[in-house]
Amino acid sequence: MGKTISCSVLLALISCFYLLFATALDIITPSKSIKDPDVIISQNGVFRLGFFSLANSTNRYVGILYNQIPVQTVVWVANRNRPLKDSSGILNISDDGNLVVSNGKAEVLWSSHVNNTAPNATTAQLLDSGNLVLSNGEDGASSLWESFEDPSNAFIETMKISTDVKTGRKVELKSWKSIDDPSDGNFSFGIEPFNIRELVIRNNNQLYFRSGPWNGNIFIGLLYMYTDNLDGFETVYIDGFYIVADNQQQTYYITYEFSDNSRLRYYELDSQGKFFERKWDAGKGDWINRYSASQTESSVYGQCGAFGICDLTKQPICSCLKGFKPRNIEEWSRGNWSSGCFRTTPLQCQRDKNNGSEAGQGDNDGFLKLKTMKVPVFPNRSSINNGECKDQCMKNCSCVAYAYDAGIGCMFWSGDLIDMQKFSTHGVDLYIRLPSSELDKGKSTKVIVITAVIVGIVTITIIMLFLWCWMAKRRGRKPKHKQIKLQLNKGNAMTKFSSENVVENPIGVKLQQLRLFNFDELATATSNFDHAKKLGQGGFGPVYRGTLGDEKEIAVKRLSKASGQGLEEFMNEVEVISRLQHRNLVKLLGCCVEAEEKMLVYEYMPNKSLDAFVFDPIKQNVLDWSKRFKIIEGISRGLLYLHRDSRLKIIHRDLKPSNVLLDQELNPKISDFGMARIFGGDENQANTKRVVGTYGYMSPEYAIQGRFSEKSDVFSFGVLLLEIVSGRKNTSFFNNPDYFSLLEYVWKLWNEGNIWSLVDKVVLEPKSNSKKEKEIKRCIHIGLLCVQEYANDRPTMSVVVSMLNNEIPNFKTPKQPAFTQTPLITHNVQNRASLNDVTLTDFDGR
Ligand SMILES: *[C@@H]1O[C@H](CO)[C@@H](O)[C@H](O)[C@H]1NC(C)=O
Ligand SMILES: *[C@@H]1O[C@H](CO)[C@@H](O)[C@H](O)[C@H]1NC(C)=O
Ligand SMILES: *[C@@H]1O[C@H](CO)[C@@H](O)[C@H](O)[C@H]1NC(C)=O
Ligand SMILES: *[C@@H]1O[C@H](CO)[C@@H](O)[C@H](O)[C@H]1NC(C)=O
Ligand SMILES: *[C@@H]1O[C@H](CO)[C@@H](O)[C@H](O)[C@H]1NC(C)=O
Ligand SMILES: *[C@@H]1O[C@H](CO)[C@@H](O)[C@H](O)[C@H]1NC(C)=O
Ligand SMILES: *[C@@H]1O[C@H](CO)[C@@H](O)[C@H](O)[C@H]1NC(C)=O
Ligand SMILES: *[C@@H]1O[C@H](CO)[C@@H](O)[C@H](O)[C@H]1NC(C)=O
Ligand SMILES: *[C@@H]1O[C@H](CO)[C@@H](O)[C@H](O)[C@H]1NC(C)=O
Repeated sequence: MGKTISCSVLLALISCFYLLFATALDIITPSKSIKDPDVIISQNGVFRLGFFSLANSTNRYVGILYNQIPVQTVVWVANRNRPLKDSSGILNISDDGNLVVSNGKAEVLWSSHVNNTAPNATTAQLLDSGNLVLSNGEDGASSLWESFEDPSNAFIETMKISTDVKTGRKVELKSWKSIDDPSDGNFSFGIEPFNIRELVIRNNNQLYFRSGPWNGNIFIGLLYMYTDNLDGFETVYIDGFYIVADNQQQTYYITYEFSDNSRLRYYELDSQGKFFERKWDAGKGDWINRYSASQTESSVYGQCGAFGICDLTKQPICSCLKGFKPRNIEEWSRGNWSSGCFRTTPLQCQRDKNNGSEAGQGDNDGFLKLKTMKVPVFPNRSSINNGECKDQCMKNCSCVAYAYDAGIGCMFWSGDLIDMQKFSTHGVDLYIRLPSSELDKGKSTKVIVITAVIVGIVTITIIMLFLWCWMAKRRGRKPKHKQIKLQLNKGNAMTKFSSENVVENPIGVKLQQLRLFNFDELATATSNFDHAKKLGQGGFGPVYRGTLGDEKEIAVKRLSKASGQGLEEFMNEVEVISRLQHRNLVKLLGCCVEAEEKMLVYEYMPNKSLDAFVFDPIKQNVLDWSKRFKIIEGISRGLLYLHRDSRLKIIHRDLKPSNVLLDQELNPKISDFGMARIFGGDENQANTKRVVGTYGYMSPEYAIQGRFSEKSDVFSFGVLLLEIVSGRKNTSFFNNPDYFSLLEYVWKLWNEGNIWSLVDKVVLEPKSNSKKEKEIKRCIHIGLLCVQEYANDRPTMSVVVSMLNNEIPNFKTPKQPAFTQTPLITHNVQNRASLNDVTLTDFDGR
């Protein structure tokens, strides 16, 4: 007891001490230097900069460390290659305006090496992000030097790992020599643009490991990026990565931001060349490391040679592709696979070509399908559709393999296939070109297999038919209301839902644990659902603002109990949102299910919804271009996450400004998942008789035929984007004699080359600059691509995100948008109220 008290007193003293420093000092100036063992601490105390030693060594270093945890955790080292030998070190701003580390003999051991025109006004500030920034107040707020641009072995949130294609300048991680020696080791970690962006680790400048291509969401060769491989590392953290092309495709960088603000999670390149995620576990009081699954065992770049496949579950790990043999059997059997494999029977198209016949068609070639693969290095990319990759590859004899990923399109390979790996799950299907003579080998067994499969399919179909009939009957007997079962876990206030809703839901979801609130708690929080606390009307009931006991502000959505209606939407929303976490989706904190009462509890968004800003003559002045662009980007990322979470696809179906909430910093959060639909693995499109959504944001195929897919969300996104840029509501044109809708108006201006009259005046102020103009033009172009009449013409969200990030150089020309002058649609609108089977719900009353 006494011990704990003295401990806490000590802790309090220490934190007072730190606080004293922290308030005064997150800055070094020419007159304010620090000496061993002083530190400076970032404003909120997340990081500190100061002197430290590593285990078993008396060397002193200057670096940045996590400040609030008991384990010494270094994320950056200044004098890593020239340690201080004693405690005489000093970190100051030198006369020439550089940040320097020098020893007692005034020898400079490290310097930021910049040319500084105003040394007297120079400051170095440690930010809460862990970035140390040197600036002299000149030239706006631009910095002279940042520790983020000279990284050590740690990749922290918001840092940018980059490669400049023209100048070759790179910002890379450098491994340490060993765990107690931070001097530059053999490994580096960076981004390599190739044809499709990849992360690479190099060993003494030789390619050592590659992540596989970036598909707009994940690296398809990094197993742990697939979200169901999480073993305790939640989805939240995976989606935060994005790649941006800056400066006309000259610089590519990767960065990440997590959806929580804990910051106690980062990536590190260790001295063995392994790249891993580190997460602070407060319970254990230590970091937990997680390696990329494909890196846990050695899978060194190209170790199986050309046309060799690495499979870590096999012994030996390397084997030749079917139709290939080791080039050097002796070395191969000794485990030296570097010389790779060669093709035993030439491709038919090559033989045709050699015999002088016209450009070999290779009709007698075929493709061998390899499942769950890490694709070889150096693919060529083409955005054609899945079905056409094969034909495209077949046409060109130098194409030896192809693969397809929805975020990338077709990938083709020519020449040697290097660095293939077989995964046990995930990865992509890779198709290898082989002469049919090779493919036919073992055909007789194939015939047997095919027969067996056919018999199997027939049997299964019959069984399914019976089952289906039986289910249909059973469903007929079911009461209409879905039941909610509650299983309270012993003692704590956690709960799990399970509902009959799984019938509609193709994967049979187990709901994640949610906090269960009781009715009284929420009644108190909202002053008994006081009318004054009402924030608005949600999809299925009123939303109230509330304050929990711990001062935490919440938004409570209460299902109107009068009618049975809305229960479905309630369950749907709980089910969809409870397992999604993304910084651009509103966060569900818990729910309350008590007798008649059903309520959802969300984080409170002080800035309400987007429509309250964009369409408000006064508030819209707050949204300058950079804020609007940030909002557009945020919504696109949130939507991409919904569409491309690797296990499920979620179609929101009701994206509109009032369903985009804004937090304190005006970050957008998509809300209202009452209408959302979950698609299983390969399902891409569905039909519904009950069209729900909001007029003006629904795509034609959805509004008219009830067909929805991710492309119908893309349409809504396009409308939303154009509304944000123009500051005008799509539906505000209904009574306009000249234009039927915003889309028609935009289309006309676009064709007249007059887009600037579309753009909100607020956005054009202040004086335009060319970067801003390019961004605006790009956005309008993207908006028009998204609202094209035919779903197939519209880009996917991953392409949209890449376009917004300037990663794709040439955009297609947009075709005429839907809802301009098509007679069919005009007709529909005139008869809007009488459409059969169509329920249009509009909750814009919020
Ligand atoms: C430091 O030395 C101790 C004992 O000499 C040893 O057990 C430990 O592994 C060493 N630590 C490092 C990081 O080398
Ligand atoms: C910084 O420290 C070095 C070494 O102690 C010293 O020589 C130098 O004068 C200091 N510079 C300033 C501007 O104080
Ligand atoms: C600093 O100035 C010198 C001489 O003017 C020049 O050679 C050098 O490239 C400059 N360094 C940087 C980082 O701009
Ligand atoms: C910077 O400060 C030094 C010493 O305080 C002074 O000699 C020098 O003139 C100042 N330089 C400028 C540009 O103000
Ligand atoms: C770095 O590479 C060199 C040359 O290959 C090797 O001698 C050295 O042991 C390596 N260092 C580490 C820390 O692995
Ligand atoms: C592996 O084989 C290649 C030739 O096939 C040879 O040049 C190389 O030296 C061998 N490497 C080792 C480590 O034996
Ligand atoms: C190509 O020519 C070789 C000999 O010139 C012959 O053996 C082979 O059958 C020919 N192949 C085809 C496909 O005509
Ligand atoms: C395919 O990519 C390689 C390099 O990755 C490039 O040299 C080649 O020109 C590309 N081929 C085509 C047809 O784009
Ligand atoms: C076939 O592909 C290669 C490399 O990808 C390319 O250089 C060549 O032009 C292509 N040939 C045809 C006929 O498209």
